[in-house]
This record gives sequence, C-alpha cells and structure tokens, in this order.
Amino acid sequence: RFEQSLRPQYLSQYIGQDKVKNNLDIFVKAAKMREESLDHVLLYGPPGLGKTTLAAVIANEMNVNIRMTSGPAIERPGDLAAIVSSLEPGDVLFIDEIHRLNRSIEEVLYPAMEDFCLDIVVGKGPSARSVRLDLPPFTLIGATTRAGALSAPLRDRFGVLLRLDYYDNQALTEIVSRSATLFDAEIDHPSAGEIASRSRGTPRIANRLLKRVRDFAQVRGNGTISLETAQEALELLQVDALGLDHIDHKLILGMIDRFRGGPVGLDTIAASIGEESTTIEDVYEPYLLQIGFLQRTPRGRVVTKLAYDHFNLPYFEE
Ligand code: ADE
Repeated sequence: RFEQSLRPQYLSQYIGQDKVKNNLDIFVKAAKMREESLDHVLLYGPPGLGKTTLAAVIANEMNVNIRMTSGPAIERPGDLAAIVSSLEPGDVLFIDEIHRLNRSIEEVLYPAMEDFCLDIVVGKGPSARSVRLDLPPFTLIGATTRAGALSAPLRDRFGVLLRLDYYDNQALTEIVSRSATLFDAEIDHPSAGEIASRSRGTPRIANRLLKRVRDFAQVRGNGTISLETAQEALELLQVDALGLDHIDHKLILGMIDRFRGGPVGLDTIAASIGEESTTIEDVYEPYLLQIGFLQRTPRGRVVTKLAYDHFNLPYFEE
C-alpha cells in the first residue's frame, strides 16, 4: 500500500525518538547475539507518533515476522490461541490498543508471555478440562495511548517499556521532507518547516497535511510546494499557526464560553461539545497540556492565559 511505503523499515531510517531508538538498538542487538527472542515490549504515548511503525521496524531488525492485531479484535480466548499457536519462533505479536483487551483474555496472556504456554479450556460443563499448549518463544509488542489504563499484572510482564514523545520541529521537518521525496513531491525547507510546525508534534498529522498541501499545489500552482502555497493550503484546511484544528478550537472555546475557562470535568466538556470523553482525553488533550493551553486540576480542566492570548480573548484572574 502507498501509505505503507512511507513507513521506515529500519531503525536507521526512523527519524526522531532518539532515546527510544538507542535503547531498542541495544536490546535488539543483545537478543540477536544470544539468539533469543526479544523481551516483550510496551510502547506507549499519544496517537500518531509511530508505535505501529516502530513495532514493524523491531520485527524487521530481528528478522522475524510480525502478526498484527488489536485489543478489541481479540474477543475470546480461542482468538488469541489461534494467533499465538501459528507463530514461528522469535516472531512478533503486535497488539494495538492493548489496554482494551478484556480481562478473560489477559489471564490467558500471562502464561503465554511468561512461560510460552497456553492453558485453554476445552468442552463445557462437567466434561470441561484444561489443556496446556506449548508455544514457540515470541515477542509481544503492546501499544497503548494510556499506559495507566493497563492492569498492573499485565504491565509488569513487559521487560521493555518505551514512551514515545511528541516530535520536535527539526525531526518533523525531516519527516516531511523524507515523505515528500518518497512520493515525488517537490518541497523546499521552509515549506516543510511550515507543515511541521503545524502538525502538533505528530508525524501522522504531518504526513496528512503534506498530502493535502501537495494536492493544493498541484491544482492551484505549478506542482512545487512553496511557502506561500503551504500557508494558503493550511489556512483552507483550518489548521492554525500552532496546528490546532477546529476540534481543538471547539474544545477550548467551548470551555471558555460555557464554563468561563473551568475548572470543568472531562465528561461535562465532552457532553457539551458532542465528542467522546476518551477521544478528548487520548487524542486532543495531551497536546493542549503539552503546549500549556490546558491544565488538569483536582477540580477539573482549566484553560490557561496562554490559550486566551492565542485566541485574542481577555483573561481575568479569578
Ligand atoms: N514517518 C512517520 N514517522 C516517521 C519517523 N519517525 N521516521 C521516519 N519516517 C516516518
């Protein structure tokens, strides 16, 4: 798939997240030297920062296959059994949104992670019995936007915990330039920087904006992405100078208009603007906290002076 071709295949091609990369490089090399499977890895952090990409990179670096699934997709213990029993030694099992696994599956996962075996119940009622199934050694890579939502026993079974952070402008600019090269779009450094600075520290957003800006340059211009075209396109896409989109705006302005900037509870905000609480908490809020537009207090969320200033609104101290 086109999208797939944007993804780096090796650690050396993966831009940014230097701490994570340096650590992984060592763990991968050590496991390979010992000819063992890599220890289980938990990747956590806000969406769009490259957790799935990194899992594929790890499998590639280990020269093994990767099986991809997600927490909600595994409904019964049998689903998990079917997947893990088909793995080859050393393979990676990637479970996205691992915090959404249900408890009955987690219980099956513990011995699989710890001792590479599965205890499954066959039959029903009085004739039900437990059968132990040996598994090849494998690496579980779990990804989640909220490490805190993982049960402690599950979290404790990961040997490697890696947190992905928002990318800085330099790394994002490099990612935009790289992506542009991969799909034969011409873009200069300032334009790549402009897209980067409006991408909320998130490669997925940067790549999406790049595609839309490129559409714009193709139809309205001569195909080359200039700073002027980029700025015009981003304006039309309703992405402001800080990369905030209309949902960020709705969130902040809603808090200001209806709750005088807070403090106000997450569920109350969510209901008032018609978005899911979890979407706000996992997708929108982390970046707004990061840039200091929102604060979390024991009494709820509060809009800061910085945000009022961004929207040119008067701020009154309580
Ligand atoms: N595309 C998306 N994320 C990337 C990253 N971290 N490095 C290189 N290309 C990417």
